[in-house]
Amino acid sequence: MAVTSESIQTNLETIFQRVYTVEAPDLRRLYENAKRDQWNASRDVDWSRNVDLEQGIFADGLIDGYGTDTLANLDQKRFADLNVEFSCWRISQLLHGEEGAMLACSQLVDMVPSNDAKFFQATQVVDEARHAEVLSRYLLEKCGGRIYPLTANVKTLFDYILGHGKWFVKTVGLQLLAETFAVSLFRMIGETAKDPLLRDICKRILSDESRHMGFSVLSLPDAIRGLSPGEMRELEEFTGEAIRLVLTGQFPQEAYETVGMGAGDIAEIKRARKEIALGSTDAAHFRRLFRRDIHTTVVTNMRKVGLINERTSSFLRDLGIDPNISAQAA
Ligand SMILES: [Fe+2]
Ligand SMILES: [Fe+2]
Repeated sequence: MAVTSESIQTNLETIFQRVYTVEAPDLRRLYENAKRDQWNASRDVDWSRNVDLEQGIFADGLIDGYGTDTLANLDQKRFADLNVEFSCWRISQLLHGEEGAMLACSQLVDMVPSNDAKFFQATQVVDEARHAEVLSRYLLEKCGGRIYPLTANVKTLFDYILGHGKWFVKTVGLQLLAETFAVSLFRMIGETAKDPLLRDICKRILSDESRHMGFSVLSLPDAIRGLSPGEMRELEEFTGEAIRLVLTGQFPQEAYETVGMGAGDIAEIKRARKEIALGSTDAAHFRRLFRRDIHTTVVTNMRKVGLINERTSSFLRDLGIDPNISAQAA
């Protein structure tokens, strides 16, 4: 039996503040936007549409190993099965991330010091609940319940985010880094998936995410400026580690195993995956755009909040990210 729950010990400070005047108009504007732009996953998504699992879900070019002989030798049915398992594996990781985000934001309601930030975080709790609702319903109703367990990396990241006692560490981990990764992925799936229902769901989720990233960019600069050298060091370490967890180690081993591929074939795909990233195939093109998109957004957001310095730049370079990358060059 797969493990389906665990308890995470945390020591968080609940700030019951009672100043109700608007102190941060930009956060209040985000709160107003959140109320205005709510959508309802049960009413606004057309659940009557069928998902054609014989066609596959994601664009074939997104499947790791696409273009290799190993996958070219699979017959059409088996390749479509792999597409479905791979897509569901990836959506499952996003789903677990949405559930974790909901928990983190519920902690943030308690922990953030100002009322403006508390109001906004209250809306993000319901946004993330809706994202977990819509993705789980898609997997349960349309994909035969194919929900894969969360990866070690996602678990480690959320253990840290949920267990940590400082709100700004949670916000760097969730809104600044994990959500950047999720946004790039939702954008790519929303633009390229074969399944129109999933494309629609991704676009709806994306419409909420810019507010969430906006919260980090508005709330973190002052908090980070006020940190002691020791706290800053801890935040820098965590930032480096969180980026590593988010960007690496996401190989969907179980998806290949589910369609009966052996260890030799899977090793071949892992090897090819690295080469493809450097090559000029369609798959490489997707991957490069995706990496460029994430790297640019991570660096831009880190700069906005005051988290780019000599130490973090060296962490970024170690991960193959150019700390001077700019949106203009993308
Ligand atoms: Fe979300
Ligand atoms: Fe979000």
